[in-house]
Amino acid sequence: MELFDVYSLFDVTPVRAQGCTVWDQKGQEYLDLYGGHAVISVGHSHPRYVAALKEQLDRIGFYSNSVRNPLQEELARRIGEASGYGDYSLFLDNSGAESNENAAKLASFHTGKDRIIAFRRSFHGRTSGAVAMTDNPAIVSPFNAQHKVTFCELGDAAAVEAELARGDVAGVIVEGIQGCGGIHVPSQEFLQDLSRLCKRHGAVLILDEVQSGYGRTGKFFAHQWTGVRPDIITMGKGIANGFPCGGILIAPQFQARKGMLGTTFGGNYLACAAALAVLDIIEQEDLMANALSVGEHIMASLPRSPRIKEVRGKGLMIGIEMAESVAPLRRALLYDNHIFTGVAGQNMIRLLPPLCLTKAQADHFLRTFNKLLV
Ligand SMILES: Cc1ncc(COP(=O)(O)O)c(C=O)c1O
Repeated sequence: MELFDVYSLFDVTPVRAQGCTVWDQKGQEYLDLYGGHAVISVGHSHPRYVAALKEQLDRIGFYSNSVRNPLQEELARRIGEASGYGDYSLFLDNSGAESNENAAKLASFHTGKDRIIAFRRSFHGRTSGAVAMTDNPAIVSPFNAQHKVTFCELGDAAAVEAELARGDVAGVIVEGIQGCGGIHVPSQEFLQDLSRLCKRHGAVLILDEVQSGYGRTGKFFAHQWTGVRPDIITMGKGIANGFPCGGILIAPQFQARKGMLGTTFGGNYLACAAALAVLDIIEQEDLMANALSVGEHIMASLPRSPRIKEVRGKGLMIGIEMAESVAPLRRALLYDNHIFTGVAGQNMIRLLPPLCLTKAQADHFLRTFNKLLV
């Protein structure tokens, strides 16, 4: 049997990794500024993380959500403390898409309405509702397209208000910082407008922090730079440093009902052990502060070049928009200089490194990038 051929692959086979470093099967070392797409938050194979998973597996790996799991309760308490959302409740699932799916479902249950407002250039995942809320027709099948979703421009509060005024909107979903759409940071004023408008029209504000959350921008969630408190916050990627895990934080006004949400694997022992180890490491190594300072250093030190159109982002979520296609540059970074980077669209290099990236590693990238630009 062959693999269903949907991924464009780099010709690299990682077999080992540590911190921000990855090695291939020939022993070649790479600097990882991509983090497996923003997933590696506390660094590859962190000893504390590895030990937590091994110890948990020795005790119990899995049981269903029909029994008490104290690790889930501990994780809820710890995420509440770390994020400042201790009065919210936690529902654990398996991925970013599933988190957004659950958020939209909850918004619809709560309001009795069925339309969602999303934004141009958004990405919310691949499952049915999540992909319908994603602004990319190429990945929306006719089946997915049955959902009622309206797209507004990011920043256009008047357009959102006009849609909300029609009275059928369950929720508005917005990324803390748009990731796949090209690192667009919503303004503080716009997120505050969305919060105010959602309250006025009885709609649920959903902040998708799957990529921008979990300390990446220097705050626990990117939207916390704006003072807004959304009704639902969705999480994934860095929450368990590569162990599949997602979750949503739900404001106190939502009433839970037995059977309302559910999942087989969500919140399993291994995912919880991994997620608890991630929180320990973020706190002990002060990784949010590191993400902010190393990110600011990169953004301030990128070369001034007519080939760079704009640099956007916050902390270690950085987009370098070039005046040209970035494919040759990324190939040169990876194959000639052994540096992994991400991409958004044709013209943007996207940096999503582990939050433990050091200034020395950042400087190595900056020197290499500078050399490639001249
Ligand atoms: C903002 C955002 N939301 C949701 C998702 C989907 O997450 P997953 O691939 O874990 O389903 C992604 C993935 O890139 C994302 O960037």
